[in-house]
Amino acid sequence: MRIPFYQFNPETFSFIDDPVLILEDFWSAEERRQFRSAMERATWTSLTDMPAVAQAFPNCGNWLKADIGGPEASHFLERVGMPCIANYIESFPNIKNRHVNFNFYSYKAGDCLPTHDDTDDAYTYAKGRKPPTRRLALATYFHEEWHPDWGGELIMYGPPANPGQQTSLQVTHCIPPSPGSLAIFAVPRQHRVCRVDALAGEQKRLSIAGWFMTEH
Ligand SMILES: [Fe+2]
Repeated sequence: MRIPFYQFNPETFSFIDDPVLILEDFWSAEERRQFRSAMERATWTSLTDMPAVAQAFPNCGNWLKADIGGPEASHFLERVGMPCIANYIESFPNIKNRHVNFNFYSYKAGDCLPTHDDTDDAYTYAKGRKPPTRRLALATYFHEEWHPDWGGELIMYGPPANPGQQTSLQVTHCIPPSPGSLAIFAVPRQHRVCRVDALAGEQKRLSIAGWFMTEH
């Protein structure tokens, strides 16, 4: 479902019925300004300084990742924590614990993320420790403006036309990083981030992305 946030009913929407939700104008211009200002104060780590991640996603440019500060993290979770998310998370049996993990990301011209389904996160955890299971992935955009020529779309895929053949994946959604929009989808699902085009110049694709997870 793709719908303006003011028309969306978070009580009745179900990720079981519709695994990809796109909300337009989720954040106000003032909220986006506040998150961008928090991003300016953040301490960024580049992909090349995260060797395990860089190895998992080679030739992806050199995008940046940062922790979200306390007040912004609270505001973020307060706003995105909608009943449809809780309903989906609680639909899984025998949950021991619930987890969230969100970060700031900054993609400049040349940066991208290849096709993956968000299940393989072993490189982010200590060996031998079972990571929580990612259930819903979220990506949302805070830059001031974004043009179609600048790239950086989130491409979502359905199952491959020929089972087991990655090259036959079928595109189901092409989600431009519209300022203030929010995409949430059920994991696992194959997806990728298109390379930000040179036509973006110095413009950055500024997002928060991460997961709602369960521990069993
Ligand atoms: Fe992903």
